[in-house]
Amino acid sequence: MCGIVGYIGKRDSQDILIEGLKKLEYRGYDSAGIAVFTKNGLEVRKSIGRLANLEEKLGGQPLEGSVGIGHTRWATHGKPSDVNSHPHTDNSLKFSVVHNGIIENYLDLKEELIAKGCKFVSETDTEVISHLVADEYDGDIVKAVQRAVKRMRGAYALGVLTEYEPDRLVAVRFASPLVIGVGQDENFIGSDIPAILEHTRDVYILNDGEMAILTKNSVELMTIDGGFISKEIFHVDWDLETAEKAGFDHFMLKEIYEQPKAYRNTMMGRISDDGRSVVLNEIGMTAEQIRAIRNVHIVACGTAMHAGLVGKSVIESLARIPVETDVASEYRYRSPIITKETLVIVVSQSGETADTLAALREAKRNGARVLAITNVVGSSVAREADDVIITQAGPEIAVASTKAYTSQLIAFYLLGLFLADTLGTRKADDIATIIAAMDSLPEQVERILENAAVLKQVAESLSKHNNLFFIGRGVDFAVAQEGSLKLKEISYIHSEAYAAGELKHGTLALIEEGIPVISLITQEELYEKTLSNIKEVKARGAHVLGLVNAGSEEEVGKSVDELFAIPKTLPLLAPALSVVPLQLIAYYASLARGNDVDKPRNLAKSVTVE
Ligand code: F6R
Repeated sequence: MCGIVGYIGKRDSQDILIEGLKKLEYRGYDSAGIAVFTKNGLEVRKSIGRLANLEEKLGGQPLEGSVGIGHTRWATHGKPSDVNSHPHTDNSLKFSVVHNGIIENYLDLKEELIAKGCKFVSETDTEVISHLVADEYDGDIVKAVQRAVKRMRGAYALGVLTEYEPDRLVAVRFASPLVIGVGQDENFIGSDIPAILEHTRDVYILNDGEMAILTKNSVELMTIDGGFISKEIFHVDWDLETAEKAGFDHFMLKEIYEQPKAYRNTMMGRISDDGRSVVLNEIGMTAEQIRAIRNVHIVACGTAMHAGLVGKSVIESLARIPVETDVASEYRYRSPIITKETLVIVVSQSGETADTLAALREAKRNGARVLAITNVVGSSVAREADDVIITQAGPEIAVASTKAYTSQLIAFYLLGLFLADTLGTRKADDIATIIAAMDSLPEQVERILENAAVLKQVAESLSKHNNLFFIGRGVDFAVAQEGSLKLKEISYIHSEAYAAGELKHGTLALIEEGIPVISLITQEELYEKTLSNIKEVKARGAHVLGLVNAGSEEEVGKSVDELFAIPKTLPLLAPALSVVPLQLIAYYASLARGNDVDKPRNLAKSVTVE
């Protein structure tokens, strides 16, 4: 996820671009840049790091001109660096592009452009676009952009400038957000409304396959096929803070709703065209090295560790390799048996968690190969691991992790399938079936989100209690632990997650009249056993909410007090759905208790101390 901004008008553009990028920094902050038409032509300044670095550079060498584009980056292809920062240019330096999204077929396009003589300077997918637009140009930038985007596969929101037509700014989108701001003798583009809200409240919101041609005095809208379209202007009456949260009350809620997109983005470019295999080019291990793996250690903290608990089931079930999942702060001190045949997987949203990093270093010292699953390109974990799978959740702002966790699950499914394919532990048809079911997950999450109002009611009644339990078996137990953590950290309600069959070995003593128990019951082969455990708590007065698969409401309904059904998927994939209602319950319980949802007490987003 990156942020783009653009200006064409009557004022100097540099400050407008920088102010816009400041509003977009939440979308990415590993580097930034701007391109402006100055009296010398199209000039670009960019810098690794936070925007302040770019501002410092511009302080010494300002760019004067009233047309420009800007970008704040969240690296996807290529580490954060000056050269990988946007805007990107073609070899003639006459075209400049800012991009938010991922171009899936960039390698094919790059090869073709290199054969035509283009010289690439960065590792990014975006640079392909600037060369492609230049290659397609024959005197009309709009047509060149139309021809270029038709050759691209993936997601993009683009701002494009060419020195040949300095009075036009072209914007186009597919599967990445883009808005056009309409002012008086000036017009704007932005990844979202806050980027331009200071200057105008009148916007066009572009849909997929639509583009805008901006001049100082006009905005023309068309489709990428060339037909003109008209749209209603959307008048924004939100304040800036509401706009930053895209109309959601909290970042956490916004991030919960971003999960379908995060799933799609994490899968994007990692499934073969025929949908029958997983492509993980980022893994440098040969088939021989994969066959040599004797065991896997998954090491992480908190929510990331909970994703690792699901990861254990996924890898064991698909690839039949023994897996242990450990809390990173414990791992180093228990003298784990690490050999050269151990694959250590570290999982970290931020990529900076001190304990996880220390575990990574310990694993490497012992000769293990380390694979990182992280959300931040260029983070310490990403830099030090041998192989890295980047989750494409985009920046996570709320302290309570939601979309990062579910993207980690998707990464584990992809990895499990990749290993299974290499090791031959699953038939090709099985792999294709799982991939097809994964493809449905984003839309299934959307269906759960449509029922948020029901979960709000459940949460409001739970918020009156001081203790509650989560129970489940198999991967349901792993998700129960995440549901319990989420509830504790933002609602401050004490809760425990238990393997459903383990309750009677002590904890059942805590079950008393009226205590809420949330029971996950998504694993069909374990239904009967879990239902027996539910009977045990109900017999002692518990009030049970059953989280079940659609279709089994009748079977489970008799044994519980309340039901919430999630769309049916394959048992192994159920965590990617069942956690979503638990995130919403935690969110609404926190809200009902009047807590600061996004910044829970005593916690920090990134824990860089051991
Ligand atoms: C809980 C939460 C934490 C993090 C943990 C690890 O919602 O966010 O438990 O999961 O601090 O952080 P990362 O993933 O950045 O290593």
